[in-house]
Amino acid sequence: MTDLVKIGNTNVVSKKLGLGTNKVGGHNIFTGLKDKDGYAVVKEAIESGITTLDTAYMYGLGRSEEIIGDVIQDYDRSKLIIATKAAQDSSRNKVDNSPEFLRKSVDEALKRLKTDYIDIFYIHFPDEKTPKDQAVRALNELKKSGKIRAIGVSNFSLAQIKEANKEGFVDIVEDNYSLLHRDAEKELFPYLKENKISFVPYFPLASGLLTGKYRFSDSDKFSQYSREKFGDIITSLEIVEKIADRYEATVAQVILAWYMKNPNISIVIPGARKPEQVDQNVKSLDIKLSDKDYRTIDEAFMDVE
Ligand SMILES: NC(=O)c1ccc[n+]([C@@H]2O[C@H](COP(=O)([O-])OP(=O)(O)OC[C@H]3O[C@@H](n4cnc5c(N)ncnc54)[C@H](OP(=O)(O)O)[C@@H]3O)[C@@H](O)[C@H]2O)c1
Repeated sequence: MTDLVKIGNTNVVSKKLGLGTNKVGGHNIFTGLKDKDGYAVVKEAIESGITTLDTAYMYGLGRSEEIIGDVIQDYDRSKLIIATKAAQDSSRNKVDNSPEFLRKSVDEALKRLKTDYIDIFYIHFPDEKTPKDQAVRALNELKKSGKIRAIGVSNFSLAQIKEANKEGFVDIVEDNYSLLHRDAEKELFPYLKENKISFVPYFPLASGLLTGKYRFSDSDKFSQYSREKFGDIITSLEIVEKIADRYEATVAQVILAWYMKNPNISIVIPGARKPEQVDQNVKSLDIKLSDKDYRTIDEAFMDVE
């Protein structure tokens, strides 16, 4: 496993482990968040050697970007990879992929992040009317002007990704993928590989379920799964727990190491509510998962999704 990855056809190079920041300032999505924890999470990540930060306008309607913008002022910007996303026009409660809206979104994100370039800019969600190649062409102009360094799309169907990539401008895709959500393996991963497009999974820890901190008795907290299915997930996690014991690691660390060994994945961006979680997750970099353990985990979750 190499520790660094190149994003698409760009010269953006990232470490394999980054930080997801929807719980940094994401007050509109989660209750009980404190800005002071958000600042501490970002600072802890950078101090621990994490240099890639994944944010979005939607996380607190700009608040996450503002917090990150404040924290990064104390660090060498050239060593950081800042990824952000936009597409929601919150004033009209609409998704907008028009070139005008994307240009405005990039300018506003630059101000909140207090920086003069964004390393990876994603269209966060597809709208219904803008031709995707037109939207991405506008981003390519922003790339040429130096405001963004890599072009990404998120939550696009494969057909929309293909449309967006008509001229080969898409560098990176971010989508829901975890050991519990493996749809991307069938068609998306082969397409991305063939077209040298990088992939970032969101919800890598299935919002905490894959950390191993829940037991069968917590099944009512996960209403999206039947009790039987939840039981299967817990059984699979017990297999990971045994492997983790051998590495003197936690379940979350081994699961993160599994993604970092997965050749389809470029950057893993677990989210964190508290700096202690960042501290824990960064230790996954010390785990060199054997091929056999990688396969055992792969198979343990094969029929669980
Ligand atoms: N492109 C998109 O549309 C999209 C959508 C969703 C997310 N994202 C991005 O992807 C990132 C990752 O997704 P996510 O943060 O929603 O989910 P996730 O990474 O699957 O889970 C993160 C959550 O798990 C818990 N956790 C993390 N480390 C832990 C540890 N060591 N021990 C115990 N609990 C731990 C924390 O929640 P609790 O403490 O609350 O349990 C944390 O907020 C986001 O932060 C965001 O940047 C993008």
